[in-house]
Amino acid sequence: MPSSSYYSPSLTSKSSPDQASWGLATKLAELGRDPWGHAGYVNMPTYRGSTILFPDLATLDGRKPAPLRYGLHSSPLHEAMKQTLCELEGGAGCILVSSGLEAVTLPLLALLQQGDRLLVTDGAYDPTLDFAEHFLPRLGIQTQRYDPTDTAALQKILETHSDCKAILIESPSSQTFELTDIPAVVALAKKHDVTTIADNSWGAGIAIRPLEMGVDIVVQSGTKYVCGHSDTLMGFCVANDEKILRQLGQARAFIGIYNAPDEIALCLRGVRSLPVRYEAHRTAALRVCDFLQEQREVSEILHPALASHPQRALWQRDYASSCGLFSFMMEKKGEGKEAREILARFTDELRLFGMGYSWGGFKSLILPAEEQGLGRKLLPDVPNDRWLLRVHVGLEDTADLVQDLDDAFRRYRSAA
Ligand SMILES: Cc1ncc(COP(=O)(O)O)c(C=O)c1O
Repeated sequence: MPSSSYYSPSLTSKSSPDQASWGLATKLAELGRDPWGHAGYVNMPTYRGSTILFPDLATLDGRKPAPLRYGLHSSPLHEAMKQTLCELEGGAGCILVSSGLEAVTLPLLALLQQGDRLLVTDGAYDPTLDFAEHFLPRLGIQTQRYDPTDTAALQKILETHSDCKAILIESPSSQTFELTDIPAVVALAKKHDVTTIADNSWGAGIAIRPLEMGVDIVVQSGTKYVCGHSDTLMGFCVANDEKILRQLGQARAFIGIYNAPDEIALCLRGVRSLPVRYEAHRTAALRVCDFLQEQREVSEILHPALASHPQRALWQRDYASSCGLFSFMMEKKGEGKEAREILARFTDELRLFGMGYSWGGFKSLILPAEEQGLGRKLLPDVPNDRWLLRVHVGLEDTADLVQDLDDAFRRYRSAA
């Protein structure tokens, strides 16, 4: 890999023809590195800095090409990260941003204008809905939610409102894991000339690759499985269309978005082991589901890879794998405040499952939904007599995780 390719002023960073035949794990291990440009170091060095010097006036003026012009925009390390993420999602260009939330908001800011309507899945990550419903209206952009399980209803919205300009997909949904029929949504969007954006933080480029299904922009929270160790935040957008990439790149530059090089170095290190970690999360999570299925207090497990998932056929058609994140519903004990106190018996003495936000890291996590539910408008919310607990199964020994949960159920059961 010639080092000059890291500085390519074009947004494309496709692998060479011989590399194109490699499997994904090989690509993620091999690409975005330049040992012979860096004294044999197997990893890319971390470039820190704002100022990048120009050798002469002609380069400063743009009459001679300058690979990079200012530290805000990129560095060889950032270019290496972008190249690797393009391979992960199967796209031609990548825009790095500071968080997964910014990966969702940047395309909306870049592509939508006053008078436009955004269609957002009712199952989206809460802060995505907050941005769409509470910030975009300030710019004269309105948001309408759609039911991700009802493509016919989405079609009606598109036929009724010619101001729809973008559809935001998140499949599976945050917290309740409904699937979207992505190819059907893409077909509708193309018919109505609407841009599709898919948050693929759960699929991570491993379980599903929405760009290959015709989605225009895929976004991910790199904070999750790409980083994989819960020690930094990062987000990215990947697309194939040059015009879209230019619009996203311009918006990034207009806003002044920056990724600190140490954070990028952590994510580049993380992505090298993504396929094996993802598979380990998948098998451990399914084993934990087996255990949960046997507990009498568990009424439902919300995991799209389980045979009990209502959209089984869609899952089998479109998804190649699953990760460590799913939810389950547990019978509520007691009423009001007391019910939350009894729930604390379950959560507060867990030794291995921590309570905290985010997911995708080595550590197992559990997060009860808020008492008032999920704030859904179209999809069913959590029934009043149930708790919804979202689980991220990490990389600990599965037997120890099951034991931790078993102890928690015993405590919960013993509560009057
Ligand atoms: C589906 C989804 N998208 C985006 C994000 C935001 O990611 P970040 O925490 O990197 O901003 C999250 C965070 O939990 C998420 O679950």
